[in-house]
Amino acid sequence: MTSPLPPRAPGDLRHPTPTSLDELFALYEEHGQRNVGDDVTIVEHALQCADLAVADGATDELIVAALFHDVGWFVTGEGPRDHLLTDHHAAAGARILDPIFGAAVAQPVALHVTAKRWRCTIDPDYYDELSEGSKINFIAQGGPLGTDERASFEAHPGFVTAMALRSWDDRAKVRGRTVRGLAHYRVRALGVARRHASGT
Ligand SMILES: [Fe+2]
Repeated sequence: MTSPLPPRAPGDLRHPTPTSLDELFALYEEHGQRNVGDDVTIVEHALQCADLAVADGATDELIVAALFHDVGWFVTGEGPRDHLLTDHHAAAGARILDPIFGAAVAQPVALHVTAKRWRCTIDPDYYDELSEGSKINFIAQGGPLGTDERASFEAHPGFVTAMALRSWDDRAKVRGRTVRGLAHYRVRALGVARRHASGT
């Protein structure tokens, strides 16, 4: 299935939507080398995020969410430099991941931009500490949460996992950091996909 979005400029990040675990890994392996604005490539950012999740003792589902949380960039064509666009990559990523891995992976991905907006809303120092790419995109992502949006997110059952993913995401932009490669996560991801497929 191809993206329904209109044609974009040369260098467009968009690719066909991955529909299986193999297609997901292939997308990162073959197209993850693009720098998206924070001195790291997409795949470096993904691997650093997953590595931080492992270090924090996260569940396999959250580690997989950390690894693929920005997969929506590949199908929306949006990245941190596309600050004039509304950011849909979180919802797009969740739509990709839900049929492959289930809600425990898709939900924190869907909420990871809201988590950033929430943190910016309640913690003025947080915004100052964001990377430049993340700052650029903040307004396009909706800016600070309104009172009702904030209360709704705080009451959401996915609040804690979304905030955990957010904390790894924000720290996963260190140029040159050595981390394990994509292959390290394939068995773990396969286990999550199989548990989802079997309903366990
Ligand atoms: Fe990210």
